[in-house]
Formats: sequence, C-alpha cells, structure tokens
Amino acid sequence: MRVLAGRSGDATKPYDPPCVKLVEVQFEPIGKVVFVSPGTTLLAASEAAGVEIATGCTRGMCGTDAVCIEGGGDGLQPAVLPEVATLERMGLGPRFRLSCATRVQHGVVRVRLGAF
Ligand code: FES
Repeated sequence: MRVLAGRSGDATKPYDPPCVKLVEVQFEPIGKVVFVSPGTTLLAASEAAGVEIATGCTRGMCGTDAVCIEGGGDGLQPAVLPEVATLERMGLGPRFRLSCATRVQHGVVRVRLGAF
C-alpha cells in the first residue's frame, strides 16, 4: 500500500486530496450538460459545453446574455450590482440572470436559452 503524506507532511496518514463537488449545468432546449467548479460563471460554463450565448460587455451591464433559470436557482450566487440594476432596467423577473455575472455554487442548474 502506498501512503502519501498529507498537507501536514505526516506520512502515517493516507493522502486525502481536497474534494471539489462539481456543479451540473444543463442548457435547454438543446440538452447540453457540463460539470464545472463552483464559482464558474454561466457564460464560462456555456463555453465549456460548446453552447454559444451572445455577449456584449461581459460585465453585467448590457443585458445581452440574459438567460432564464428554469431550475436550481438556489444553486447560484445571489445577484449583485451591476447585474441587479441591469435586470431591473430590462424589466426581467427573478428567474432571469445575466450569464456573464452569474456564478454557480452547487447542485444542478437548468438554464433556458432563447427565453428572452
Ligand atoms: S454580456 Fe453584457 S451583461 Fe453580460
């Protein structure tokens, strides 16, 4: 049996690597799925999945990349400025987020493209 030292350098304990629980992001209606690390933006997740989302500023200000969250919204970081102001200016409800400004946290997030 091979024993690797942990962070403390204690070779008597098995190495226990940090475990990052990936977040599943589903893109509908095309049915593409990607698993990403917590903290990844929906825009970066879409790029990883090979899904194109039109963008403009990529800073949460123009609203070009608005998407509808169909499920798992509690697995997203809450919206903050400037995303909140942009969504409000656009008159979009609480199910909408800006993909460049929205970071995933946990669980399974279902994103509806083309709903805006
Ligand atoms: S690209 Fe402008 S708000 Fe996301």
